[in-house]
Order: sequence, then C-alpha cells, then structure tokens
Amino acid sequence: MRERNTYAEPYRIKMVELIEQRDEAYRKDAIRAAGYNVFNLKAEDVYIDLLTDSGTSAMSDRQWARVFLGDESYAGAKSYFSLENAVRDIFGCKYLVVTHQGRAAENILMGIFVKEGQRVLGNMHFDTTEGHIRLRGAEPVNLLRKEGYDTTCELPFKGDIDLDLLEAELKAGAPEGKVPFVMMTVTCNSNGGQPVSMENIRAASALAKSYGVPFFFDAARYAENCYFIKTREKGYADKPLAEIAREMFSYGDGATMSCKKDALVNIGGFLAIKEDSGHYEAASQKQIQYEGFRTYGGLAGRDMEAIAEGLYEGLCENYLEDRIGQVKYLSDRLTEAGVPMQLPSGGHGVFIDAKRFLPGIPQECFPAQALVVALYEKGGVRGVELGGCAFGRKDPATGEDVFPEMEMVRLAIPRRAYTDRHMDAVADTMEQLQKDKDSIKGMRLVYAPDIMRHFSARFEPMV
Ligand code: F0G
Repeated sequence: MRERNTYAEPYRIKMVELIEQRDEAYRKDAIRAAGYNVFNLKAEDVYIDLLTDSGTSAMSDRQWARVFLGDESYAGAKSYFSLENAVRDIFGCKYLVVTHQGRAAENILMGIFVKEGQRVLGNMHFDTTEGHIRLRGAEPVNLLRKEGYDTTCELPFKGDIDLDLLEAELKAGAPEGKVPFVMMTVTCNSNGGQPVSMENIRAASALAKSYGVPFFFDAARYAENCYFIKTREKGYADKPLAEIAREMFSYGDGATMSCKKDALVNIGGFLAIKEDSGHYEAASQKQIQYEGFRTYGGLAGRDMEAIAEGLYEGLCENYLEDRIGQVKYLSDRLTEAGVPMQLPSGGHGVFIDAKRFLPGIPQECFPAQALVVALYEKGGVRGVELGGCAFGRKDPATGEDVFPEMEMVRLAIPRRAYTDRHMDAVADTMEQLQKDKDSIKGMRLVYAPDIMRHFSARFEPMV
C-alpha cells in the first residue's frame, strides 16, 4: 500500500459547485426551525455536507458521456442490457431486478421471502432494511461479533458476523422455517463502515447453506469492502479488486444494491439473483407493480448507463486508495484532537462515539443528536445521528424505549466531492467542540414515527 502523502487525487476537477457559508446565528435559527433534525435543513444552509455518502458522488466524465448514450425505450432498452452485463460480470448474478434505489430492492426481497414471525439474520442490518423486515411482522436480528460494537478495539474486520451466534440461530430457527435468509451487509454501515473478511463471508455462507437457508448481500458498499479485503486480509494483496468481488459474490444467492454508494451515481438500485427457482419471476412481478417494467424499474436509460460504468469505476484501485485514504485522513486528524471514534476508520466515513464524547448526557437524552446539532451550529457541517433515534424504538409489547448498543455521529464522506481542506475545516470545528463540550446539552424527542424514525423525528434542546 502506498503512503497517501506520496501521491495526489487520481482525478482533476472540470466543473465546480459553489457553496456558501452562513454565520452561526443564522444556523441556530435554521436548526431550530428544522425541529433540530438536520434532515429538515435546506441543503443551501449547509457548508460541508456529510449527512450521507448516498447519492452524493461526483460522477466522472465517462459516466456523463454515457448519460448521452441512454436508451429511453420503455421495453428492451439497450441501457438495461449494459447494466445486466455489468451485474452478471461482477456479481455473478444472471437475474437483474432494477429499482429506483436500494430500499426498493429490499422491499421486493422482503416481499418474496419474509413472513410474519420470522427472524432475518445478519451481521448488522441498516435501518431501511430493519424497517422493511419489521413491516412484515418479522424480526431483524443483528449478530455482529462483539468487538464490532467496541469503538476502542482496533481489529481489521469489525463487520464480521459472530459465527457461533449465527449457528445457534440457524439451529433454533431454520428447521421450523423461521429463517428466510441470512443477509451480510458489506461494508457494515451501522457500526462504522466496518469491513467483513472473505473468511467470515465464506464461513457464514457455508453455515447458512448447511441449514438450507439462502445467503444474500447488502452490497451497497461492496467495492470498499473488497478494498479492505485486498489490503487487510492474507492472500489477497496481489488479486485484482474485480476478482475479489467475484469471489465474494460467489458465496451468495444474490444481493440488494443501493447504487447511490459504490456505483458512484446519484440514484438507482437493484436486486440481483443468482439462480431462478421462481424467485426472479416473483420479484419481477413486484417490480412491475411498484417500480416499473423489467427493463427500467423506475430508472431512466441514462441512469442505467451511468451505473453500468460506475460499478467498474468504483472498483478501480487508485480511486479506492484515495477514497479510503481520505476517510483515514479525517479520522487521523480527529484522533490527534482526542475525539473518540470507531477505530480503525472504515469505508465511507468517520463515526464518532457520542457516549464517550459526551459522557454526561445519558442515551435517553440523545447525545449523538446533541453533537450533530452542535456541529452544524458551530461549523455548518452536517453529520447524522446513528444512535438512539435512528435505531431506538418503542417496544410494541411493553411500550418501553429500547436503545441500541451504539450511539454514533456519522460524518459520511461523499465520493470525489470534497478535498482534504474540507476535511481540515471539519476537523477544526470538531476540535473547537471538543474544547467546549460542557456547553452541549441533551435533546428531548418530541415526535417520531414508529419506523425509520430519524428521517422525520423532531427534537427540543434540554435546558
Ligand atoms: N443498505 C445500506 C447498507 C445502506 O447504507 C442504505 C442506505 C440502504 C441499504 C438503502 O439504500 O438509500 O438507496 O434506499 N443508506 C443511506 C445512508 C441512506 O445514508 O447510509 P437507499
């Protein structure tokens, strides 16, 4: 692996998007009006937007060129077949169900596999995945290895599933038909973009197969996961990333994909299925009802062209070296400033441990949300809470609040969009907050829907 200071970005900039910086008083008014939820802010009131790495990539000149090649035919569009070829090549899946984004692919997958009372096993499901599982009266079960929850424990593959827990769940549930499938999220967004090793994927897939249970990937950040396998796992250093991807997907029965991440586009998703056994037809019928006809599924032909190109660009080694290197650059700067984080840094952003950053604020007062608000007010930086609001819920049986293990602030870095100087500005703001953290107060949740809460929750600051 090259040292990052011996090379520069593997691209140059051809077009710029202008951004503005408001003052702190303006931002305090804006966040109050937004119910202290950064999802309700106007993007133009944000200086550096690290809300998400989803749909926020800068496309390349080649992707834009392909936009002009988009075939907008309703049926049989050439662009669909370009995408199908790329998915067959990289994912090894013959059947492609195009959707408007990742959660639509989840909706279709859950719709054909998941029944009430079942348990969907995984390393750690993302919130939209959890939502779609719960909507069918089933239970999302996170079986992440325990070190994955410990932000202080530096291991190369903190996204791995705990194989003993997986086996126990399969043993208890599979014979009664309670486990529709196992889902491996690569990288694991919810605990910090942490990677899953090939060894773990291979073993988990073999276990699932031994119980006759299908094995799917949530492949939103598959390329970043492959890069970590190449750089951190024995035996992969000399393998091309596309080959690593093909091996990884060879262990699954298919994947849901949000193209808004590693396919370097602004919209799009798909469900890929390896063998038919009736599932493709069932999935496609749902696709036609909710997304669109088989050969466009809610996307324009030009979107499918850009995705087909992006699936390969996302796997380029020099791009990933720079991308993962930038995440590490921010992580190193924050570590120097004494900010507690999930370490080592993961694929798509920096995850600050809000429990350790604000030990005086109990989890029921949403310390991660309090930090998100402070970061916006102080520096115009928009991060996102992944803690008690995003993953907490009211237990329908007892009415009690259930809180997740981790309470994080995610600073997700859009791909190819910001420079290291933007990262410096973020780190400088965090440094100021670190010095001034006693002034940060907890938050009271005043409104939240039952499912996928953080998108529409509203808060008030505690005094
Ligand atoms: N799976 C993972 C691991 C995700 O991170 C996301 C989205 C989805 C599925 C759903 O995909 O947004 O295209 O419908 N994550 C975004 C984020 C929202 O900010 O992490 P989608």
